[in-house]
Amino acid sequence: MNNLLTILTIICLGSLVYCCQESTSALQTNGVTMATYDEPNRPQFHFSPKEKWMNDPNGMFYYEGEYHLFYQYYPDSTVWGPMHWGHTVSKDLTHWEHLPIALYPDSLGLIFSGSAVVDWKNTSGFGQNGQPPIIAIFTHHNMAGEKARRNDFQYQSIAYSNDKGRTWTKYEGNPVVPNTENIRDFRDPKVIWDEASEQWIMVFAAFDHVKLWGSEDLKNWQFLSDWGKDYGVHDGVWECPDLFPITVEGTGEKKWVLLQSLNPGGPNGGSGTQYFVGNFDGKKFTLDPDFEPFVKKGNAVWLDFGRDNYAGVTWSDVPKEDGRRLFIGWMSNWDYATIVPTEAWRSAMTLPRSLVLKKTDQGYRIFSEPVQELETLRAGAKKINATEIVGTLDLTQQPGFSSSQLELVLDFQLPENATTDFGVELSNEKGERYRIGYDAATNLFYSDRTQSGDLAFSEKFASKVHTAPRLSKDKTVRFHLFFDVASAEFFADGGSTVITDIFFPSEYFSSVKIYTDNNTVKLLNGQVWTLNSIWN
Ligand code: FRU
Repeated sequence: MNNLLTILTIICLGSLVYCCQESTSALQTNGVTMATYDEPNRPQFHFSPKEKWMNDPNGMFYYEGEYHLFYQYYPDSTVWGPMHWGHTVSKDLTHWEHLPIALYPDSLGLIFSGSAVVDWKNTSGFGQNGQPPIIAIFTHHNMAGEKARRNDFQYQSIAYSNDKGRTWTKYEGNPVVPNTENIRDFRDPKVIWDEASEQWIMVFAAFDHVKLWGSEDLKNWQFLSDWGKDYGVHDGVWECPDLFPITVEGTGEKKWVLLQSLNPGGPNGGSGTQYFVGNFDGKKFTLDPDFEPFVKKGNAVWLDFGRDNYAGVTWSDVPKEDGRRLFIGWMSNWDYATIVPTEAWRSAMTLPRSLVLKKTDQGYRIFSEPVQELETLRAGAKKINATEIVGTLDLTQQPGFSSSQLELVLDFQLPENATTDFGVELSNEKGERYRIGYDAATNLFYSDRTQSGDLAFSEKFASKVHTAPRLSKDKTVRFHLFFDVASAEFFADGGSTVITDIFFPSEYFSSVKIYTDNNTVKLLNGQVWTLNSIWN
């Protein structure tokens, strides 16, 4: 009995210490951490889970007015652990409603990344009452198999829902794609209905290539082809592919795009996403001959040059009338994701983006545009007239102006003087700063978080300035920027160059300026908005 009391006292004291260590703004109710969404470093207009660990976006589909977003989730800790699928829905891609966990680990394994589709024709036979079932396709990761040093512990399985994704039943015939080849990295299935060949196509990652499988009913799958060993960057494991058709903007031409995340090997270190443009004939993916020279083995065309946009894929079943190819990524990097300084939760998603394929002077390129629904968050608009900037131009001298939740659209004249270096700087009274800019000497955009606050948690976090080539040849350089407490998303020149980076100032950034380090820079016009929080 005495022993029991001692044990209970230790547990109580332990939880008291734990409570005190938790964020001061995270409420405690009966020992459960309640998220308030005003904790330090908490994004205000990005999706983040109420609490605990999140990584990749999963299973995104649109159905009956709701954009579904599932995510890799570990409900017991703020670091990665046995994976579940968390679930959230949005009617406008902006405000998110939290729903209960959708998929739990089971005897076949943990629930790793994957996708979901609306089975409109009920090809699977799982439909009820004339309603199409929703099918989730995911990787089962079998811990026992991994511990036993087997190589076949990852395989693809399915689950179905008859109530708009609220509850799920795992298929009794799982796995639907067994790992007969004994490939350790054999995961992240993304499924799409191919109208031309009238079949479901599954693309998934197998270490250094992707595999394509086909099916008529989502339950029985046949191998179609392998692709990728000889192309692109291979400095890390290939993960989370996405293969989809897309019409080239302004032409009627149809191409297929393969998004391919890899870790490590990203353009500025750690996790990153490359892409390939080509064709698909119902069996094989082939590169477009004009695109091929850019992605010879060891070379890549990157979706985002920042370090914090990983494992991103696109929504399934977006209505044809809408026509957008909508994307979201995980706003972190495996180099430091598990140790970033947040307490109640870990990680957020990027802003949702629309991917547009354009034919440029350099061939086919994806442009990423923030979805226009985000405009509904705009408040406190401020117009900046054309001006020549020498030194700095402070944008914050206005009551009620929040410099940690901002959207900016700034058009600069391309500097004639080749040594001009300019950009936007966030700073606070502690002298911490974050800069995103353009350097005319190198024709590179850059993101500099090397003095942005808390850097101590990882040597890999801010060891260098991140750079990105400018693709556009336009005489006007457009900066479209979103700052959300602890993140920057930069869409340059209409989204032809993108940088997504996170940072952790030790107090809020309270000032925002345009700076120019050498020479003057001409601002042609500018607009700045404070953005409302989506959590109020
Ligand atoms: C990518 C990834 C996937 C895997 C998941 C596990 O970040 O490693 O390949 O399915 O995370 O959580």
